[in-house]
Amino acid sequence: MSEAARILVVDDERSMREFLAILLGREGYAVEIAADRAGAEGALAAAPYDLVITDLKLPDGTGLDVLGAARQQDPDAQVVVITAFGTAESAVEAMKAGAYDYLTKPFKADEIRLTVTKALERTALVRENRQLRRRLEAVEAGGEILGRSPRMQELFRLLERVASTGVTVLVQGESGTGKELVARRLHALSGRDGPFVAVNCAAIPEGLIESELFGHVRGAFTGATADKPGLFEEASGGTLFLDEVGELPLHLQPKLLRALQEGRIKRVGGTREIPVDVRIVSATNRDLAGAVGEGRFREDLYYRLNVVALEIPPLRDRREDIPLLALHFLQKYAKAFDRPLKGFTREALDRLEAYRFPGNVRELENLVERAAALETGEFVTCDSLPPAVCTQAPAGGDILPPIPSEGLDLEGLLTAVERRYLEQALDRTRGNKTEAAKLLGVSFRSLRYRLERLGMK
Ligand SMILES: Nc1ncnc2c1ncn2[C@@H]1O[C@H](COP(=O)(O)OP(=O)(O)OP(=O)(O)O)[C@@H](O)[C@H]1O
Ligand SMILES: [Mg+2]
Repeated sequence: MSEAARILVVDDERSMREFLAILLGREGYAVEIAADRAGAEGALAAAPYDLVITDLKLPDGTGLDVLGAARQQDPDAQVVVITAFGTAESAVEAMKAGAYDYLTKPFKADEIRLTVTKALERTALVRENRQLRRRLEAVEAGGEILGRSPRMQELFRLLERVASTGVTVLVQGESGTGKELVARRLHALSGRDGPFVAVNCAAIPEGLIESELFGHVRGAFTGATADKPGLFEEASGGTLFLDEVGELPLHLQPKLLRALQEGRIKRVGGTREIPVDVRIVSATNRDLAGAVGEGRFREDLYYRLNVVALEIPPLRDRREDIPLLALHFLQKYAKAFDRPLKGFTREALDRLEAYRFPGNVRELENLVERAAALETGEFVTCDSLPPAVCTQAPAGGDILPPIPSEGLDLEGLLTAVERRYLEQALDRTRGNKTEAAKLLGVSFRSLRYRLERLGMK
C-alpha cells in the first residue's frame, strides 16, 4: 500500500484505545479511535478504512454490529475483534460472521503487530483481486475476447473495423492463442445472418475434404447414396472458418481459390454451378508465407485468403493479459466446481506472469482449471500450480534457483522483474516519474522508454 494503511480502533476502555493507537501509530499506520458503536459507525461512514479492530462488548452494541457496519462500507476491509479472556465462544461467533481474526486480552505488542500485518495483507489481496474482477467485468461487457495489452487492443480495433466489411481474413497465431475465438467474434460482428461453420482442414482425411467442403451428388463415389450439400452451402449467408488452412492438400487449393473468386461451387460429381455467399475466415498456426516459399501452398490462394491478416501475439509477449485471463478462467471453474475461490496470491500471480506458456491461453486455462480443482483455500497459491510454473525464479527473489531442465525464459523473467520494480517505484513515489527514475538509478528518459515498452503508460 503506497499510503499509510488506515485503522479504526473501537473500544470503550480508554486505556486500551490509547495503547493500541500509540502502538499502531508507531508502526506508521494512520489510526482513528471510537469509544462505542455509534462512534464507530460515524467514523466508518466518514472515511474509508483498511482494517477495523473492535472490542466485542460495547456500551451501545457489540463488535458484531461494528463488523456489520464495516462490511457494509467496504466488504474488503478486514475486521479483527478483541475478546476478554474466557469468552472464546463470542470470538468463534465473530469469526463465523466474517471477522479475520481475534485477539484475546491481555495481549502482547508483538501479537498485535503480527495480526495487524496479516490482516492488512489480506485486505490488500482481496482488493487487488476485486480490482481485477472489475476490470474483467468491464472488458467482458465489451466483448468476449479478453486482453488489455496494447497489442490485443490494437487487434480488437482492427477486428472491429474489418468485421462488417466481409473481406477475407487470415488469422495467424501459435496454438492456443485464440484464433477460433477471433474468427467467431468476426462472425458475430459481421451482421451476417447465416451460420458460423468451422472446419478443421487437418482433421479430415484427405480423400474426404473435397466432398466435405463442396458436397457431392448421388453416385459420385462409392457410398455416395444421396446428394449432399457441402460446408460452403451450409455456411451460405454466414461465415466459413477454415481452420489450419495450411494443411489443405495442394490439389484442392485451386478449387478453393475458384470458389473464392467466383462465388460459385460445384458438388463433387456434379455439373451444376451453385452460387454461394460465404465470408471466409481462415486460420493457421504455421508460417503460411514460408509454406508458399517452399511450394507447399499456392501463392495465389495465399493472397486471396490473406486480404486482411490478424496476428494474435503469443501470451508470453503480452504478459499484462495473464492476470486478467487467469481470473476469468478461475471464475469459470470456481463456478463449475462450486468452489469459493476468490483469486490468486501475489506470488502465484507473479509466477504465472513470469511463465513462458508454450501452449498460450489454452495452457493457462487448463492450468487454472487444475488449480481450481486442487486448491482448498480461497486464493490459489503456488502449491496448486504445476512445478513447471513454480520452479521458476521468483521475480525479485534474492536466491536464484538453478535453471530447470526444460530451460527458462530469461527475457520473460527479466521483463517481469523490471515490471515489478517499475510498479514499486511508481507506487512509492505516487506516480512521480522523476522521483521514480531516481529511485531506480536510471535516467528519466530510460524510465519513460521502459514504461512505454512494457505498455505501462
Ligand atoms: N483473449 C482470450 N480471452 C478469453 N479466452 C480466450 C482468449 N484467447 C483464448 N481463449 C480461450 O482459450 C482457448 C483456446 O482458444 P482457441 O481454441 O480459440 O485457440 P486456437 O488459436 O484456435 O488454438 P489451436 O491453434 O490449438 O486450434 C479457448 O477455450 C478460448 O476460449
Ligand atoms: Mg483452433
